[in-house]
Amino acid sequence: MNNTKFTTQSFFMAKQNKEKITMLTAYDYSMAQLVDASGINAILVGDSLGMVVQGHDSTLKVTVDDMVYHCSCVSRGIKKTMLVGDMPFLSYHISPQEAVRNAGRLIQEGNADAVKLEGGKNMADVVKAITNAQIPVMGHIGLTPQSINIFGGFKVQGKEEKTAHKLIEDALALEDAGVFSIVLEAVPEDLAKIITEKIHIPTIGIGAGRYCDGQILVINDILGMYSNFTPKFVKQYANLKDIIEKSITSYAEDVKSGQFPEKKHTFTINESVLKKLY
Ligand code: KIV
Repeated sequence: MNNTKFTTQSFFMAKQNKEKITMLTAYDYSMAQLVDASGINAILVGDSLGMVVQGHDSTLKVTVDDMVYHCSCVSRGIKKTMLVGDMPFLSYHISPQEAVRNAGRLIQEGNADAVKLEGGKNMADVVKAITNAQIPVMGHIGLTPQSINIFGGFKVQGKEEKTAHKLIEDALALEDAGVFSIVLEAVPEDLAKIITEKIHIPTIGIGAGRYCDGQILVINDILGMYSNFTPKFVKQYANLKDIIEKSITSYAEDVKSGQFPEKKHTFTINESVLKKLY
């Protein structure tokens, strides 16, 4: 197995060599260890944690402190996987200076290797400011969940000529501003192909079809642990929800019936000490 750490340079090399880039989200130490051991190239500590970890109905409640906390948990579980920390809602919209300060916290306190932010042309100045501070930035266009109140919900983007053109322009503007890669979320496959062919940095698809340079999914979705809503683009590789529910029910039944704990789960005390206790 290759033990070298995946970096922004590895992203560029992968596109050049036509090797697909693998990404997953993770939010805690134990899961990060498993993802790292599986050889996934990069982990995104996504602000999707607002939904799958914190139980909100959108990503809008997540704070920079939340992201720093989860990035640092994940960072302790990885050796060679690259760590990208998501910039949460309002952490990069107020001024480029504030964006640099918040991106810097994800790097310094969260141990992230890079940050990701949502938006296209409108975010070019922010991307330039953060990359000027020597922090690599990943872009994210298409269905950007921090904009659901503008989009009117979680909807596929770029289906009309005008919106498709805008996404192409956004991708070119982000590349020009210096991002090392762009997430394309919930866009038609053929549009994702055009964008992937037009830019020189890798595209990472989520609901963007087969022609992107890499793929990312939310780990809770592929493992079948988040049942509130499963988008069409998710492939579920396990049904951990059922396994976890069955295990917890069996544990509770064992405790009630006295079948757990057994002798092998207990500790002993020296006979002579025991006698003195009665
Ligand atoms: O927050 C997140 O998990 C994301 C990915 C799904 C791309 O932005």
